[in-house]
Amino acid sequence: MTKVYVPRDMAALAVGAKRVLAAIEKEAAARGETIQIIRNGSRGLLWLEPLVEVETPEGRIGYGNVKPSDVPSLFDAGFLKGGAHPLSIGKVEDHPYWAKQTRVTFERVGIIDPVNLDDYVAHGGGQGLAKAFEIGPAKVIEEVTKSGLRGRGGAGFPAGIKWKTVADAPADRRYVVTNADEGDSGTFADRMVMEGDPFVLIEGMTICGYAIGASKGFIYLRAEYPQCAEVLTEALEAARKGGWLGPNVRGSGFAFDIELRIGAGAYVCGEETSLLESLEGHRGIVRAKPPLPAHVGFMGRPTVVNNVLTLATAPAILAKGGEYYASFGVGRSRGTMPLQIAGNVKFGGLYETPFGLTLGEIVNDIGGGTLSGRPVRAVQCGGPLGAYVPPSLFDTPFDYEAFQKHDSLIGHGGLVVFDDTVDMAQMARFGMEFCAIESCGKCTPCRIGSTRGVETIDKIVEGVDVEANIELLSDLCNTMKFGSLCALGGFAPYPVESALRHYPEDFRKATLPAAAE
Ligand SMILES: Cc1cc2nc3c(=O)[nH]c(=O)nc-3n(C[C@H](O)[C@H](O)[C@H](O)COP(=O)(O)O)c2cc1C
Ligand code: SF4
Repeated sequence: MTKVYVPRDMAALAVGAKRVLAAIEKEAAARGETIQIIRNGSRGLLWLEPLVEVETPEGRIGYGNVKPSDVPSLFDAGFLKGGAHPLSIGKVEDHPYWAKQTRVTFERVGIIDPVNLDDYVAHGGGQGLAKAFEIGPAKVIEEVTKSGLRGRGGAGFPAGIKWKTVADAPADRRYVVTNADEGDSGTFADRMVMEGDPFVLIEGMTICGYAIGASKGFIYLRAEYPQCAEVLTEALEAARKGGWLGPNVRGSGFAFDIELRIGAGAYVCGEETSLLESLEGHRGIVRAKPPLPAHVGFMGRPTVVNNVLTLATAPAILAKGGEYYASFGVGRSRGTMPLQIAGNVKFGGLYETPFGLTLGEIVNDIGGGTLSGRPVRAVQCGGPLGAYVPPSLFDTPFDYEAFQKHDSLIGHGGLVVFDDTVDMAQMARFGMEFCAIESCGKCTPCRIGSTRGVETIDKIVEGVDVEANIELLSDLCNTMKFGSLCALGGFAPYPVESALRHYPEDFRKATLPAAAE
């Protein structure tokens, strides 16, 4: 029976994958064709969604941007045998956007049926956990440390050190918490893993739990991901039924289970201590550090809080070895990074590659430049708290330290591209406004500073005492950077300062006509 893949990933559903599926089923029934539909995740070639694939002896043939009205002509063209059609992209694995990637964390995403454990195992799933049980907890942590894996949530803290800190903390109970709050603008990698290969996260959490001596884990999922919650719920159930979770994980004697918790829509609940407050049933307010969650976390117990990608990379590290993972990348940025290319860009999507490509290569060669065809003016890297980078810095390699040198951050690997119609003073205002809306309110520099920041930028834009207000804004940014309790207030100045530094003319528009006269 011919296998037809129609993604169930939200990016495909958003552009009509469900209607395409219904049209394919209807057309197949009308023509007496028996087909097997598989609801895979997305390959990450998002500009081609809905991307329908058909399995043929030569490999999987893809048809991009399929609309329900295209379906009869696809059948006429013999697409069930990979027939030629204007929407055909040929073998998906030969497409340069796919073929040039190094997929480690995403190795199965878009390929397998996300909720079928047999498919997971057939594509190498479970080998990391088996290895973990074979070598024991201490060696698991050694392997993760050797890999050089750093937290993918933004701060880039070494995962092995965090796991060891929790494992070494004396306690009657420890916990693993997956941070699946994914609130950064232009980011979607966590969602894609959870919708396209949820077992890899379950396996990664289990490996972590085994390494640190935890028997319970939580996935804290943002409320805005209902489709993701559905897939995770199905996968958790399948894992329990299949003996991958429960009192005796895969016959090892190790007990571990995972609970899915849904957030309530606050960006700050992605901050780990605020997340823990929310997980405990309280309002999401940031806790002062120290103590670190690794010492005093969920319910006062030592807790590993890791991003989805961090935990989802652990199985590959265990299966292939820490050295294998560390063989990719540059400097202290080891391994691969699932880049999320978004905004005004031709080929937006998910692109996993070793650290070290330049920003220009990512935006122009992979992303294809702007969708509007106009020149790129700015790229915001690392979410709403990340700096705006101009094309003059496009030779910067994508790695933690190189970005830091330019007062910038790679964060969760999201890149949002803007063309030359963007008004950078308005983008700076947006940064401050975002902070004002999302602030948890615990500390003054962030709570009050962000609102004063919006007001000051408004004055600058209106042309009121421009130079004096720019100086005041810079001073305010400094206070927020060094006086805020957490990185929401502490990093909100970065987009503002980068806009002031690289696009000074946008803040002086109101005074320009007078100057020209
Ligand atoms: C305001 C704010 C929002 C954050 N949002 C997220 C998020 O959505 N997902 C995430 O993994 N980390 C987020 N972080 C970082 C977490 O606090 C924490 O560093 C991370 O979950 C640790 O996991 P990692 O070591 O695997 O990166 C956020 C931090 C701040 C200050
Ligand atoms: S910086 Fe903002 S979000 Fe962070 S603790 Fe202070 S008020 Fe809360």
